[in-house]
Order: sequence, then structure tokens, then C-alpha cells
Amino acid sequence: MALFWGCDIARLTEGDEKRTALIYATRYGATKETAGWIHEGIQGPVDLLDIESISFSDVISRYDRFVVGSGIWIGGVHKRIVDFLESRNDELNGKILATFVVCGTDGSTQSGRKRIDGYFTPMHAPLERKPSLSGYFGGRVIVEKLTDEDREALTVFYKTYLKDQLRSWDRTDPEKAVFFGGEVKRFCGEKMNVSLGSATS
Ligand SMILES: Cc1cc2nc3c(=O)[nH]c(=O)nc-3n(C[C@H](O)[C@H](O)[C@H](O)COP(=O)(O)O)c2cc1C
Repeated sequence: MALFWGCDIARLTEGDEKRTALIYATRYGATKETAGWIHEGIQGPVDLLDIESISFSDVISRYDRFVVGSGIWIGGVHKRIVDFLESRNDELNGKILATFVVCGTDGSTQSGRKRIDGYFTPMHAPLERKPSLSGYFGGRVIVEKLTDEDREALTVFYKTYLKDQLRSWDRTDPEKAVFFGGEVKRFCGEKMNVSLGSATS
């Protein structure tokens, strides 16, 4: 068990000198949308920020609470998310409220859950204290929108491992993401002790 420290509902939802940043990394948009739904669920003055358009020093000085999420591409999270967590791990210590990933892996099987847990490893490894809340969400692939390189890589992946043809799919889940945002708010409010580790529902 780990103490979910340092956060209360007033700080998350009312005026405060410093604020909460919800930082996401997206390539094709599903993670940005999911971050938006999480934001909706938190129902507070939380700023939504794209990892590609922030200065690390600015966000470290402006915010004192963070929710951090990334899409998954070829097994991994966005490089800049890892750079942020690794290079600023001292300053971020104790300030990451929650993490999330948006991916194609189905979390309803044990092997899927294990793979998803693995996606969190590079995000959590630099942190002295792991966030108490981690969530995974279905993403989306629209074949026509992929870059040639991504389409080729995914075509090979589908053919080799899934023995299938690459097709478009959409497993984004607004309701689950809004609920997760509510959980972030609720856990902060209750200053609860919650268990570490595997991804939530
Ligand atoms: C090139 C590429 C590689 C992907 N690799 C994985 C993967 O290894 N594991 C996985 O679960 N999902 C994988 N996905 C699915 C993405 O995680 C999903 O499309 C997600 O919506 C991406 O986030 P974005 O829409 O914000 O870019 C991959 C998608 C693409 C386009």
C-alpha cells in the first residue's frame, strides 16, 4: 500500500497559486480526446497540455500536480513523456497524481493486462513514488490517416502476429475516461491509501 499524499479536493478544484496540469502525448488524436474526457471528469481548473508544445521548466514552475498520459506506438509511450519524467524526476517527486495510456491492447485478458502494465514501466521507473491511479483506455486506428511508415509497420504486425489484415478500428471510450477523471478527483479528495501497481479497470 502507498499513501496517496499531497492532494486535496480544494487544491484540485478551486483557485490556488499553483495548479494541476493534465499532460498528454498523441500522434493521431485519440489520446488528446481521452485526455479531454478525463479533464471533463475531474471537473476542475486543470490545464490540458500537449507534451510537444510545453517547456518543461515552465510547467514545473507553474504547476504542482500532474496527470500524465500517452498513446502507445510500437510498444512504447511517447519519448518526450519519458524525457519529462526522467529529466525532472526530482521536481516531480510526489506530484504525479495519475498516469494513463491509450492503446490497442485489449485489457480483458491476463496477457493483455500484463502487456499494458509493461507500457507503464518507462513512465513509472523514474518516479520515486508511483502514482496511485493508473488507467488504460482503448484508442483508434484510421488506416487512411496513418503515415506510410506507420501503415507499413502495422500491416506487418497484423500479418505476422495477428494473422489478419490491417483495418480501421475505434475503441475510444468517453464514459470510462470521464469516470477515471472522477476517480482522480475522488482519490485526491479523500486522501486515500490505495494500492500501487497494476492498471485500473
Ligand atoms: C504505428 C502504430 C503502432 C502501434 N503500436 C501499438 C502497440 O505496440 N501496442 C498497442 O497496444 N497499441 C499500439 N497501437 C495503437 C495505438 O496505441 C492507438 O492507435 C492509439 O489511439 C494511439 O494514440 P493516438 O491516437 O493519440 O496517436 C499502435 C498504433 C500505431 C499507429
